[in-house]
Amino acid sequence: MTNLAYETQALPDRNETDPGLMDSLRPLPRISIQAFCETEGVARPIERAGEDRRMAKTHLKVHMGGIETAVEFYKTAPTPNLILLESRCEPREMLDSLRSLAEVCDPTTKVVIIGHYNDIWLYRELIRSGISEYVVAPISMADILTVISGIFVNPESEPLGRTIAFVGAKGGVGSSTIAHNVAWSMSTLFKSEVVVADMDLAFGTANINFDQDPAQGIAEAVFSPERIDETYLDRLLAQCAENLSLLAAPSTLDRIYDFDPDAFTQIIDVAQRSAPAVVLDVPHVWSGWAKTTLTQADEIVITATPELANLRNAKNLVDMLKKLRPNDALPKLVINQAGVPKRPEITPADFAEPLGITPMAVIPFDPLLFGNASNNGRMLGEMDAKNPIVGMINEVAHFVTGRAEIKSKKKPGIEQLLGRLKLGMKK
Ligand SMILES: Nc1ncnc2c1ncn2[C@@H]1O[C@H](COP(=O)(O)OP(=O)(O)OP(=O)(O)O)[C@@H](O)[C@H]1O
Ligand SMILES: [Mg+2]
Repeated sequence: MTNLAYETQALPDRNETDPGLMDSLRPLPRISIQAFCETEGVARPIERAGEDRRMAKTHLKVHMGGIETAVEFYKTAPTPNLILLESRCEPREMLDSLRSLAEVCDPTTKVVIIGHYNDIWLYRELIRSGISEYVVAPISMADILTVISGIFVNPESEPLGRTIAFVGAKGGVGSSTIAHNVAWSMSTLFKSEVVVADMDLAFGTANINFDQDPAQGIAEAVFSPERIDETYLDRLLAQCAENLSLLAAPSTLDRIYDFDPDAFTQIIDVAQRSAPAVVLDVPHVWSGWAKTTLTQADEIVITATPELANLRNAKNLVDMLKKLRPNDALPKLVINQAGVPKRPEITPADFAEPLGITPMAVIPFDPLLFGNASNNGRMLGEMDAKNPIVGMINEVAHFVTGRAEIKSKKKPGIEQLLGRLKLGMKK
């Protein structure tokens, strides 16, 4: 079937761009892109696209080398949101070598192939096997922008980002601290953009924990919903780390913060279209907007300390969320501040049983580590990367992004060992 294929000539980069087409393209969201190119003729337009204002928010890296180089590279590095892969292989050979890429590629990563064979059979096989697009060289800068826009900006397409809402079963249990640290881990481990939204407008601590003092933040968005779009969101975000930005709370009391149930819906939607992960730091309240936020989140993490009131509240939350989201997975659970000296505590197994949820992590009470981190405006991983608590936070980052599955502690042995090995390999 492939005898219809013909090899295109490697023409030099097409410089001409259609201004009408370029104008119609919207800015690309905060995605990480890595390109593997076999020829200069393909690398050059990709590099030029990277300099275009529409790609200002993306993180682009261009490597020389084809599928094999990419496979070697991703054996030890996390895959980005998008891989652009040039291959001069003939169709069957290309399909074969892509199989080894699938083994090292995260399921959420999109792949675009730039090939040298104009072959409809190959195109269909690639799309069938999950490749997002196949384009035939030579390509122009506008082609690159159009292809990426088609995948990530299309208004009909699914929002790019997943929202992960963190809520405490009681006040002061460490929900915000866990949310911020997991967000930081996600951004550093997976080299993928994370937006943290601090929804505790009066008392939020994300600005302290990330050592930021932005003039604007989430309050501007909720008080002027008519202005919210991607450009406005950009102005409100404070950059905390290479792949982490914050929609900070004002943490002042000069206004009161009574909002409509849908007050945050639009800003969350825009954030979700602009970054692959949005961490929502939801305060411990049961207002209309808190309920809406939890109901609509892609993933929920309840943080609780091992005491009776926490268990009662966590149970009520879980039961209510089951009713509100009958077709979704149960919330995830973190038991925090375990082992406070002299405090009578409920064991993790007894805590988990009535909820029917295996905790993702049981984090010990460690006032020195947590106190030093928050007093210095640093993340736990920045203070002491080798601390076992940092390891637990990293595991939670894997769980909430679907990169690892939570295993019940009741089943020790080979299964758990394999799970851990898999986790170690993914890092
Ligand atoms: N495992 C831990 N060991 C010791 N201290 C901790 C631990 N986890 C959190 N803390 C500390 O507990 C305090 C409360 O944490 P945090 O503000 O994150 O809680 P919260 O649940 O978000 O509270 P709020 O109800 O005010 O939103 C902080 O000082 C934090 O550093
Ligand atoms: Mg909080």
